[in-house]
Amino acid sequence: MSDALIAEKRDELIAAARGAMGSAYAPYSGFHVGAALLFDDGAIVTGANFENASYGLSLCAETVACASASQAGRRGGLLAVAVMGGMGGAVEAAISPCGRCRQVVNELAALGGTDPLVLCVGTQETVEMRLSVLLPNAFGPANLA
Ligand code: THU
Repeated sequence: MSDALIAEKRDELIAAARGAMGSAYAPYSGFHVGAALLFDDGAIVTGANFENASYGLSLCAETVACASASQAGRRGGLLAVAVMGGMGGAVEAAISPCGRCRQVVNELAALGGTDPLVLCVGTQETVEMRLSVLLPNAFGPANLA
């Protein structure tokens, strides 16, 4: 069921991540990233990286997307995540979520008990894997229950 929705929305999800990349604020690294989250009602929530003059405070696209989803009241139902990025917004190799973002995405996913499919979009290929493969044995809300 959820796999069918992912298949149906796959192109739209990737296009949304590409569109979000256009909102990247990345004056320091020049590396623009867009992320798009697909939920089980078909909704898509996006984010782009938001850098900071104090470099270490920069927020990644996936984290911004998760915070935006939470702000919209979404606490679960996360089916898939698409991410892509490149210098000046020129996508080349597929990129996968950084370690911190894996943990942030895990929080949102765990609230709804899903294991989202992560689509790492490059020009030549889109690498797909489940979050549990990217972040095995994750620490999550259940550990604090
Ligand atoms: N970045 C993301 O937005 N997502 C990732 O998963 C990896 C890195 C951003 C952070 C920073 O603004 C820029 O890419 C270069 O590291």
